[in-house]
Amino acid sequence: MSDEIQLNDPQTLYRRWEDSQWSPFSVDLTKDAKQWRHMEDADRGLILFVLSSLMVAEERITTKFSGLVGAYGSEEEATFLSTQQVDEARHMQFYARFQDEVIAEPSTVGAHVERARDQVSDAFRAIFDIALVESHARLVANPSDLAAKVGFVTLYHLILESTLGLTTFKFATDYVTREGLLPGFVEGYSKIHHDETRHIGYGVWFLRETVKAHPEQADTVRQTMRELLPHVAESLKPPGDGAAANVLGVTEDDLRGFALDGLTRRLKIIGVPLETVFA
Ligand SMILES: [Fe+2]
Ligand SMILES: [Fe+2]
Repeated sequence: MSDEIQLNDPQTLYRRWEDSQWSPFSVDLTKDAKQWRHMEDADRGLILFVLSSLMVAEERITTKFSGLVGAYGSEEEATFLSTQQVDEARHMQFYARFQDEVIAEPSTVGAHVERARDQVSDAFRAIFDIALVESHARLVANPSDLAAKVGFVTLYHLILESTLGLTTFKFATDYVTREGLLPGFVEGYSKIHHDETRHIGYGVWFLRETVKAHPEQADTVRQTMRELLPHVAESLKPPGDGAAANVLGVTEDDLRGFALDGLTRRLKIIGVPLETVFA
């Protein structure tokens, strides 16, 4: 069945990008700024935690991406990957603007990222500051090394953007929408999410095509999964001692269950079923 699934190739994704332009500066944040000043401490704490994770993540994935553009396999792939680089910078700009205008602490992007770093967990740092940085450096050093590219796309598109990113989007936007909070944040984050589904589409396409043509690369996918999944499980935890989970209205199991479902589905499409990762 999975053999019949139609995936979008880079040229199709690029055309879609041309039709999906938006500006991080045209999202209306005036209601958000008013709400922020009168928000309950528990809500504010949870939102600050989510925002900090997004701020750090988007900075990392903006500045640790260019190696993949340089490792393109066709001109169409190079074109699509160039658009993804722009998207990630745009996402970073949106969260920095939110900090400037809603949290009302205007600063440089770098200073926002530094402050946000105080809020994120050790598991989060292990993924973004160590694994991603090393995987990117490997690819920059040797763009024609297929295993380096497969390892990078597995980490970046399959783990960061799909497993962590889609889960954070679902539970964070469910919560603020249910509470009637931060409409500008929801609008910008939804546009970002739309971009992310295109990026994930590329990652699944690339891994599926590569594993089909080079079956030995399935081991690279498995190995990357085995190294990273413990940190992923750890970072899919609401912060603190359970109070944040109450505010969020979901359990750790809900978060992990959602993440695992999506990952299982994508690995099956790629041709490396999850059960073979831990066999
Ligand atoms: Fe992004
Ligand atoms: Fe992305």
